[in-house]
Amino acid sequence: MRSEIVVVGSLNADLVTRLERFPAPGETVTALDFAVHPGGKGANQAYAAARLGGRVAMLGCIGRDAYGERLAQSLRSAGVDVSPVHRDAEAPTGLALITLDASGENQIVVVAGANARLTPELVQAHEARIAAAAVVLLQLEVPLGVVLAAARIARDGGATVILDPAPAQPLPASLLKCVDFLTPNQSELQALTGRAVGGQAEHAARSLANGSRLRVIVKMGDAGALLVEADGQAFWPALRVEAVDATGAGDAFNAALAVALAEGRPLPEAGRLAVAAGALCVTRAGAQPSMPTRQEVETALVR
Ligand code: RIB
Repeated sequence: MRSEIVVVGSLNADLVTRLERFPAPGETVTALDFAVHPGGKGANQAYAAARLGGRVAMLGCIGRDAYGERLAQSLRSAGVDVSPVHRDAEAPTGLALITLDASGENQIVVVAGANARLTPELVQAHEARIAAAAVVLLQLEVPLGVVLAAARIARDGGATVILDPAPAQPLPASLLKCVDFLTPNQSELQALTGRAVGGQAEHAARSLANGSRLRVIVKMGDAGALLVEADGQAFWPALRVEAVDATGAGDAFNAALAVALAEGRPLPEAGRLAVAAGALCVTRAGAQPSMPTRQEVETALVR
């Protein structure tokens, strides 16, 4: 049986400042503190999936610098196979400039760096592994051509494809045809559909799912998550937690979904695991440092 989860995506060093409140345009504010954490949507999903018990490989691109080595080391420490991670001699490792306010909300600016150097050819070099995966996890912090190449290989090989459309950008139909699960948050759903989401997430999601095999899972933060598919829908309510830092919560969600699906668990169970993993991630600071273990997720679900 297939069991590996292959992540094709970004690795970033997260430069995080914590503030009382976000500055207005043109305003200067003083930070409460500063920290550097391993991050990047792809790497976070790989790290989280391994912490949750998945067998995981990461395909991405880092620079030949100290941040790159630190990111690879973080993934190794969780048990991720980083042998497919390419070290680029021309570009520095990707960065994310993150500010957090007192409620744990974040604002993120990503500097792609080496992530932009990942190519369809580098993906092609790992064709057999991607095609044989149980689940392939994709996001949009690497070039769209890379995402499309990986999604096609995965679809043709029979792997389940989960695409996190973040940061949001228009998606070609040729990509959506290769995707099994699309997991936007509400603002990404709005950007993808051009529809004001508000209380209407279901309608917007349905406009993507209707007439296709695509399942849309809308990540609704502290409300939970909504699954919309051509012939039905479901809602998985959130767990109540004390929010410290929302960074990486969406990545924890996708990782848990992938691990559960790779284990052959039914979708409702996978959805509940995903919601719990996302909620627990919010209770701690940093992206990768806040990813929960399987034990923590199982315990939270029976509470
Ligand atoms: O999803 C959270 C991640 O987004 C951060 O770790 C940051 O690197 C950005 O990519």
